[in-house]
Amino acid sequence: MAHQWRGIIAEYAQRLPLATAGAVTLLEGGTPLLAAPAISTRVGAEVYVKVEGANPTGSFKDRGMTTAITEVVQRGANAVICASTGNTSASAAAYAVRAGLRCIVMLPAGKIALGKLAQAIVHGAELVSVDGNFDDCLRVVREIVERTDTAMVNSVNPYRLQGQKTAAFEIVDALGRAPDIHCLPVGNAGNISAYWMGFNEYAGRMTATSFDHPSTHLPPKTDTVPRMWGFQAAGAAPFVAGEPIANPETVATAIRIGAPASWDYAVAARDDSGGLIDAVSDDEILAAQRLLAAEVGVFVEPASAASVAGLLAKAEAGEVPAGALITCTVTGNGLKDTATALEGADVNPPLVAPETDQIIAQLKLR
Ligand code: F0G
Repeated sequence: MAHQWRGIIAEYAQRLPLATAGAVTLLEGGTPLLAAPAISTRVGAEVYVKVEGANPTGSFKDRGMTTAITEVVQRGANAVICASTGNTSASAAAYAVRAGLRCIVMLPAGKIALGKLAQAIVHGAELVSVDGNFDDCLRVVREIVERTDTAMVNSVNPYRLQGQKTAAFEIVDALGRAPDIHCLPVGNAGNISAYWMGFNEYAGRMTATSFDHPSTHLPPKTDTVPRMWGFQAAGAAPFVAGEPIANPETVATAIRIGAPASWDYAVAARDDSGGLIDAVSDDEILAAQRLLAAEVGVFVEPASAASVAGLLAKAEAGEVPAGALITCTVTGNGLKDTATALEGADVNPPLVAPETDQIIAQLKLR
């Protein structure tokens, strides 16, 4: 058999606190780092997108879910639970199937993109629709795991960040060095924290723990770490406000979060890297989503496009260093939320007879 990517636990065994034997995996990770000339030209830098929608359930959450669920199985819990704006629940549901675990997902009512809801349903998760937002759901989940023998698989579970840090490894492995700037969307703030950990470990500034290779000394893979540029939706931007906000609102429902759990880690990532966390408007997010689809060839969900929207805004403001090497994580697949993508689009092209000559003439094909 030709080489097949083995999933992040096997591929990065030396840097993860889990044994590879018994890993619960859908062979996540190994996603494309794709050159984006259309964005490079606009910002005057060398820009790549890390296409996390190419993961098995269509988002970066799979990296953290393989590690979290693997650890839950080893610990012996029989049910997992999460609060979610949709992607965590889709991923938890799929990995729970692989592990034979009960999966309970706590979702803010009416604010989950339909594709994500479909995923939780087809994978047999038990859905609880909460009359509240993500922050309410997360509070309830925290209270449930305190009182019951149910394992939390939100990113406050440290194994989630351990898995998600591997995306930073892949970027450095692909480029042969760390980027100068890394851009990503920020919601509950687990991912920016995980990337920062990953970049630091690869630069030898943090030691990895490994069960399979306890005594391995790992030489640094790079001398530098990037500046971390995080972007929130303007209606859900607690880091920009400097405090949690009560009623987050944005078209990018995945990052409709007012009280991020990984607050301190994210602030450390921003400040220690000399980076920033800024806000982008819903219009900027949707414009970046269209640009990625129409000129890069990658269909992402709205929240994912916040990274690119932010980079474009910074370029507009003259704050992007000329010629810098920049990576942008696009976090989730566009197929998860077709309703938003098709808003205002003509989905009923004129009906024609199955007459080849007429169709060639109509399309003016030569
Ligand atoms: N992009 C997408 C597509 C997401 O689903 C999320 C988070 C983020 C970005 C933000 O990542 O929370 O680590 O800062 N989605 C979570 C969920 C909250 O429930 O699926 P973060």
